[in-house]
Amino acid sequence: MSRRRQIYEGKAKILYEGPEPGTLIQYFKDDATAFNAQKRGVISGKGVLNNRISEHLFTLLGGIGIPHHFIRRLNMREQLVRQVEIIPLEVVVRNVAAGSLSKRLGIEEGTPLPRTILEYYLKDDTLGDPMVTEEHIACFGWCSQEELADIQDLSIRINDFLTGLFAGIGIKLVDFKLEFGRLWEDDWSRVILADEISPDGCRLWDMRSGERLDKDRFRRDLGGEVEAYQEVARRLGLLPEGQETAIFDIDEARKARESR
Ligand code: TMP
Repeated sequence: MSRRRQIYEGKAKILYEGPEPGTLIQYFKDDATAFNAQKRGVISGKGVLNNRISEHLFTLLGGIGIPHHFIRRLNMREQLVRQVEIIPLEVVVRNVAAGSLSKRLGIEEGTPLPRTILEYYLKDDTLGDPMVTEEHIACFGWCSQEELADIQDLSIRINDFLTGLFAGIGIKLVDFKLEFGRLWEDDWSRVILADEISPDGCRLWDMRSGERLDKDRFRRDLGGEVEAYQEVARRLGLLPEGQETAIFDIDEARKARESR
């Protein structure tokens, strides 16, 4: 028996060498961080939920022609993915003002944006993922103009699809973060969606109550993180029978769980 080779460990995931060349295993941890890892915690069961939610969303996105790295889920915490060269940008798509946008520009959280905003952050933890512009991207060559055009086109298509999907289950897709990679075939590469899409990197608000169903529960010490992620999974139809109870009040759900 040989131990499999770890390729990379991030804050919420580990990448291992895959069974065939050009593949990787993406392992979802329960670790949670915020504010560039100044705040750390463990959300028990988060990795399992994110693995399942991300599998579901990538599969649906594949169905509308979005190229992505997901191949198949292997078990509760792992999925097989295509190995890509990660483009060092975090792409944030915003539909409603919240988080850092509200803070920086003084726009009240919850204000609908008259048009969707795309923002770019350089993936560099030592610098705290600074926001960059298209000028910086071109100047420093983090990706080519053609790749950026593809990233923008894919991000908008993903946003249109996910906004509708979540609206259909009573959830407002406020904002979310995407990562892309280059898939190499001989001397050519194309841009595909990579990483994950889960409540860790999205803001998901219940349309009726405004309840936060995402990692802001952890960032803002609201509690009820797992219940919120479960609620997202449940509404997406991913939880087995018996775990189908609607939870609109996350605090109530947490108290109920603690008293069991
Ligand atoms: P922000 O308002 O803090 O800039 O976050 C915008 C969105 O991007 C939000 O849905 C959370 C997500 N995000 C990440 O996934 N990783 C990060 O490191 C940051 C800062 C935000």
